[in-house]
Amino acid sequence: MGKKMTVIKVPATSANLGPGFDSLGIALSMYLTLTVGSKCDEWVVEHDLGADIPTDEENMIIKTALGLAPNLEPHKVRVESKIPLARGLGSSSTAIVAGLALANHLGKLGIGKDELVQKATELEGHPDNVAPAILGDFVAATYVNGHVTSVKGNFPKLSFLAYIPDYELATSQSREALPEQLAFKDAVIAGSVGNALVASILTGNLAEIGPLMEADRYHEQARLKLVPHLEILRKLGHEVGALATYLSGAGPTVMVVIDQSKVADFIKEAQALGLTGRFEQLEVERQGLVVSE
Ligand code: HSE
Repeated sequence: MGKKMTVIKVPATSANLGPGFDSLGIALSMYLTLTVGSKCDEWVVEHDLGADIPTDEENMIIKTALGLAPNLEPHKVRVESKIPLARGLGSSSTAIVAGLALANHLGKLGIGKDELVQKATELEGHPDNVAPAILGDFVAATYVNGHVTSVKGNFPKLSFLAYIPDYELATSQSREALPEQLAFKDAVIAGSVGNALVASILTGNLAEIGPLMEADRYHEQARLKLVPHLEILRKLGHEVGALATYLSGAGPTVMVVIDQSKVADFIKEAQALGLTGRFEQLEVERQGLVVSE
């Protein structure tokens, strides 16, 4: 092999976990990798992600890097990603995190992970994808008065099955479906469900995790018209014995927490119900952003 290359690896993420709206997320075993090549006169982004994704400094990764460090010398980079766009698996967060990590590396900025979470959240608007993408595993985070607090914890060893529909749903469109206000008593219940879920996750209380993941009061009901397969898959999950089914981030992906022994049956039944999207088996990813040289 020739010269060693720097590789930036960022995992996909699943936000909300049901009731943890804009706050909870996990990193998953599906990745964007960016390989840093040689210096050039202009930025070049090689990828096979389709004609809509720019191959020059208009690319979101490069724009993000230059936003942090405007004087970076242009390089050729190669981006590979298995994370589908606009599906609720954190693809835009991976681009933001990769861009910040690229600037941090090339500009020798020495920014640590907690500060990266802060900067990435300022760009994304909420921490529930960027925080686990950077820190890995399970993260509970809050963004108040411009300051992020993010706490990483150990998610129990459970398997995930993502149902990825064959249509895109922009987070902005999915947020338009949300109510402007929540009555005080409903907000109290919504918050308490999220609190109990965090405690169940951190104590490995599997019996409680499932029902709490399905007890969201913030967003899923309002989004059902955009993601009608959520109800179908949740009902099927109950029949097949899945632990929980929830809308991943703003959707349209639905995440099923399910034992691997039940996956084949679940997929067969879902297809028999006419669901035409694809399924991906995923595990929790424990490391988050890795920059290797
Ligand atoms: N928490 C966000 C939402 C998704 O549900 O709109 C993460 O981008």
